[in-house]
Parts: sequence; C-alpha cells; structure tokens
Amino acid sequence: MKSFMIQGAKILATGSATPVVSLNNNKISQIVQTSDEWIFSRTGIKERKILTGFNQSVVDLAILASNKALNKISMNPSHIDLIILATSSPHDLFGSASKVQFKIGAVNAVAFDLTAACSGFVLSLVTASQFLHSGSYKNILVIGADVLSKWVDWSDRSTCILFGDGAGAVILQSCSISNNSILNFQLDSDGKYSDQLSIKYREEIVSSSVLNLYKGSFKYLYMNGKEVYKFAVSQVPLSILKCLNSLNISIQDINWLLLHQANKRILNAVADKLCINRNKIITNLIKYGNTSAASIPLALDEALLKNKICNKDIIVVSGFGAGLTWGTIIIKWYI
Ligand code: UT7
Repeated sequence: MKSFMIQGAKILATGSATPVVSLNNNKISQIVQTSDEWIFSRTGIKERKILTGFNQSVVDLAILASNKALNKISMNPSHIDLIILATSSPHDLFGSASKVQFKIGAVNAVAFDLTAACSGFVLSLVTASQFLHSGSYKNILVIGADVLSKWVDWSDRSTCILFGDGAGAVILQSCSISNNSILNFQLDSDGKYSDQLSIKYREEIVSSSVLNLYKGSFKYLYMNGKEVYKFAVSQVPLSILKCLNSLNISIQDINWLLLHQANKRILNAVADKLCINRNKIITNLIKYGNTSAASIPLALDEALLKNKICNKDIIVVSGFGAGLTWGTIIIKWYI
C-alpha cells in the first residue's frame, strides 16, 4: 500500500439500480443498421437499460442505488461523512453529488463528483479508502452512476449499441488494519490518447462589440473502438500484475476477476493473458451493456446477491476507459 494507514477500510454494503426500460439487440436494429448476431458475437451484449423518463437523470439512479445499500445495513444516512459520485454524465456541470446527498438525507456528508468515465468507480474507491486509511472519516458512500444513453449518437452504430444506464453504490467503513479490504491499488493515465474516447466540448461565438464571447455545449460520445480495445487488453493485465506482485499474491490466489464491463472479448482476453480461469470472471454485461462508472459496482452487487463471493475471497477489480485512465484495486472480501 502506497499510503500511510492508521485504519483499515471495509465494504459494508452494496446497492444498485437500473432503469426499467430495456432495449434489446433486435430493437436497436430498428434504430441503426445492426443485428443481434453482430452485437452479441462482438461484445457479449444482448440488452441494455435506458433511462427514458423526461428529466430523469443520473441523480435518480444514484439515489435508488444508495438507498438500497443503506437499507441493507439499516444505516442512518446522517452517519455518512463523505459521498463521492463517480459520473461523467452529471445532471449539472457543477456536479450532482450534493443533490444525492440532500435527497438521501446524508445531512452530515460532504459530497463531490469525480469525473473519470469508465475508471471513475475505481478512482473513487481508492480516493475514499485514503480518507479512511488516514483516519479522516468513518463512513463513506461511493457511487458509480452514468446515463451515457443521453450522450451517445443514436445514428452511430459503432457506439450506441454498447452503452446502457445504471448506478451502483458501496458503503465503506473504517475498521482495524487487520480487517482491511483494500489491499493495494495501481492507477494510471495517458492523456496522449484522450481523443480516442471523448465527449468533446464544442463552442460557438456569441458576437459582442467588446470582446469574443463563447457559448459552450458538448458533442456526442466518440470512440475509436479498435484502439481502446487494444489499450485495454495490453494495459489492464500489466496493471493487475503490478498490484499482485507488490502484495506477493499469485494468480492462483485470485477468486474473482471483476473488470469494467466493456466487452466480453476484453474480459476473456485479460483473463487468458493472466492465465485466470474464465469461470472466475464476474460479468453481467449481457443484460446491461457498458454502464461506464456503474458497471463495476453493479456487477459486484449482483455477484453478492447471488452469494458468489465468500469471506476472505480475493477480488481483482480493474477499470479502464476515457482519459485514457485505468486502474486496479485488490480487494480481500470480509463479511
Ligand atoms: O468503456 C470504455 C472502454 N471501452 C472499450 O473498451 C470498448 C473497446 N472496443 C470494443 O469493444 C470494440 O472495438 C467494438 C465492440 C466497439 C467494435 O468491435 P470491433 O470488432 O473492433 O469492430 P470494428 O470497429 O473493427 O468494426 C468491424 C466492422 C466494420 O465494418 P467493415 O469496415 O469491416 O466493413 C464496422 O463498420 O463491423 C462494422 N460495425 C458494425 N456492424 C454491424 C461496427 N459496428 C457495427 C454494428 N453492427 N453495430
């Protein structure tokens, strides 16, 4: 661990939420020229959930997921000290976390957004763990939530078929160092490739006789799928190996591989490169597609609901995406 630790950090509860409206591959083939066969064989996705209600936003999904996590452990929201909302599709450019803070009644929490696209949840979990390890806070709510359906170009078949909306939340609590769950992390960025996956800022000039004034807005999501694919399958295994080596944990010790749910082929390629048995991969992208910052906590919550994860299991968690940014956390699960 790179940080000075006076307390451990433990995940107490998880929760998740997805919209009710489902868009399957056959329906999407009525929007763009594609097919269930192409989408499923290239990505592993069969359907995705889409937020369709007017003015519904990432805030609504984040609130639902957070309340589910809080209810699981009957925690009074006033006991939360910090809320980090990992999102790249906020309802307000100034941030959405404080709206969640207000709506769930976390009256004593400070709240902020963290923008790192599909790596957002991993970066947020590491950030939260630092506040716990240093003894600054006791209870932290970390939410990964995105509604990229509002930002994809629904005429671009190379991207609109991939993304779905969702939210996942985890509640972390400080604990003794001997019960620490966040064993190690590795975070990286390479802005040289930021153009490969982005929602670019766009501006138009607003004429004025005094000076140039600009009005801002954002374009649609753009992704060079091939390049991002290559980046993911080359960098993620290296990130995982770095983390494992510094802990002296071997590949055989890994119980679960929980990667950002971008593409089934990426999950398999990373597992194969590391010689991790494919049946250790946690995946649910068949039902939800790529939900960006939500994908890891959503899949974690489902795996827990299915009682897959046992006490002291080692879970390797990796996120990757726009930035480009990628990161790994090694978790030892304590019930
Ligand atoms: O969340 C952040 C991280 N994201 C990722 O890691 C995503 C990484 N990239 C990928 O998962 C894959 O690159 C994609 C799933 C996006 C694309 O798969 P691919 O195997 O790389 O396909 P491609 O882009 O090379 O396209 C192959 C062909 C092209 O046709 P031609 O040029 O060979 O004639 C595309 O035009 O497939 C065509 N194509 C489609 N055909 C039917 C692209 N999208 C579609 C589509 N339906 N939806």
